[in-house]
Amino acid sequence: MEEKVTTKPKADKPRGFYCLLTAAVVVSGIAVFVGLSEHKTSSSLELPWWKTTIIYQVYPRSFKDSDGDGIGDIKGIISKLDYFVYLNIKALWLSPFYKSPMADFGYDISNHTDVDSIFGSLEDVDQLIEEAHARGIRIIIDFVPNHTSDKHVWFEKSLQNDDKYKDYYIWADDIVTSGGSRKPPNNWLSVFSGSAWTWNENRSQFYYHAFLTKQPDLNFRNTDVIDDMKGVLRFWLERGVDGIRVDALQKLFEVTDLSLNEPPSNAKEYHEHQYNYLNHPYTESLPETFEVVTRWKDVMNEFENKDGISRFMVIETYEQPSQRNIYYDHGAVPYNFDLIMDVTSECGGLCIRDVLEKEYSNLPPGAWPTFVLGNHDRNRVSKKFGLEFVNVYNMLLLTLWGTPTTYYGEELGMEEIQVSFEDTQDPQGLKQGKEYYAEFSRDPCRSPMQWTSSVQSGFSTSPTPWLPVHGHYRTVNVEVQKNSKSLSPLQLYRKLAFLREHPSFQTGSLQYVVVNKNILSYVRGSDGEGRFLVAMNFGHKTSTDNYSIHPVNTEKGTVVVTTSSLNSEEKNTRSLKDISLLPGSGIIIKL
Ligand code: GLC
Ligand code: MG
Repeated sequence: MEEKVTTKPKADKPRGFYCLLTAAVVVSGIAVFVGLSEHKTSSSLELPWWKTTIIYQVYPRSFKDSDGDGIGDIKGIISKLDYFVYLNIKALWLSPFYKSPMADFGYDISNHTDVDSIFGSLEDVDQLIEEAHARGIRIIIDFVPNHTSDKHVWFEKSLQNDDKYKDYYIWADDIVTSGGSRKPPNNWLSVFSGSAWTWNENRSQFYYHAFLTKQPDLNFRNTDVIDDMKGVLRFWLERGVDGIRVDALQKLFEVTDLSLNEPPSNAKEYHEHQYNYLNHPYTESLPETFEVVTRWKDVMNEFENKDGISRFMVIETYEQPSQRNIYYDHGAVPYNFDLIMDVTSECGGLCIRDVLEKEYSNLPPGAWPTFVLGNHDRNRVSKKFGLEFVNVYNMLLLTLWGTPTTYYGEELGMEEIQVSFEDTQDPQGLKQGKEYYAEFSRDPCRSPMQWTSSVQSGFSTSPTPWLPVHGHYRTVNVEVQKNSKSLSPLQLYRKLAFLREHPSFQTGSLQYVVVNKNILSYVRGSDGEGRFLVAMNFGHKTSTDNYSIHPVNTEKGTVVVTTSSLNSEEKNTRSLKDISLLPGSGIIIKL
């Protein structure tokens, strides 16, 4: 089932074409067996690349180090491009590689149109884009509009009250209290804890930063800022990137009345300095954001209109469907993080179905869903659900209708490392102090990618990579899992990645079958294109169930993929009447 990889990504039709067509064929809201909706799309469509591929998130610092300094780099990524061909992955999202003092490991950008020397050079990125495209792989870059580094020339000029730049950031006068002490204009908090305002002697003013002191927020009410960020976008699109992941978009605007304090959330578990101690009606999800998204889409359309190839914009947002789905109207796709936020290890089949329905049943007509299980800010699947659930969560992610995003290493079932407070690198962890750091630090999920059984797992020749390689690397790595005689997580992932190309998974309908405390199962596809039963056990007990019921309506099928515990059964015909699934196992049967 291996496909030949084309030398250049195929041009697809102009975007408007798809919107119209997709809108016409998406039917939802039809009640099926378990009483929820059916999600139907037609398979006769030629879909834009971002609807058919898996997106794989590369965190460049942790992926592959080519020069032995202990930090991953662009040349390292280039050297691993054939891995994505092996995995049938056709789009990469790269976390930031731009010039940065690395206070937030690249999310503090001091020059948007240059590459940090830690990661390589602009020429390296050009080469990456070229070599990726030659393998049919698209490149999505991280676009960080909300803030810059305090070492960005815009901020340095803003500090000097430079005519053009003085209003590039959010500046505010202090409030002098009766006691004579200096106070910021309001109680707004930084996501990373503590006041979101920092005093600057030079301007004798406070500046606002949703994240670190070293990440001042840009002022998107200033049209020069909008124009400059459009320029940044154009710079990268001209170099050949295929899309952007927009960082922290919820934080783009703040209200102009700085006397407004944010109200307490009354959530007992948070302390006064912690972000969730307050609700954020004045600093999150302001409606002004949509207009700016439209402007970015205009820039992307300039490029789409030239060559007919879709450019993709996906938004980092932790909003609920009613809010996040508005982005679709503005030419962008919101990330749906419900699988991250709403699914706990106690959440079995019924509960996961509800989480899926939250996405599906709220989608506007013609909109395309997304699913994500983790990223560089969140716990790995093995940490959250246990190692024995790695395979079944990959099976879920890759068999749903919608574009999946995989965080590097999840295809291997990589585990999180433990880092002491003293060795902690992540500012989010450090800012919380020793007592709380473990709950907040993102270091554990950012450990180096595990390639081989040799020293540092083949990540780096440095004896001290920026974060330690996980102790289990000799058994959990690409080399071992590729060559394993029994089905490894990597081999399963790869099978699913190829199976996913079948029209039944790309555009076919999704109808639930057996759904209970443990089991989630559904049929993908239709009579014409072929139907597949996907059955998975997310519970903690073995479950034996009859799957021949409606909408399956047949008694036998052929096993196509199973998680390791059922491996021996592949290609066998089997009865659907009594399928037994252990916790964490799953099976796909062609009907
Ligand atoms: C986003 C990124 C996160 C970063 C923050 C500030 O949430 O995913 O890693 O720290 O923005 O840029
Ligand atoms: Mg940043």
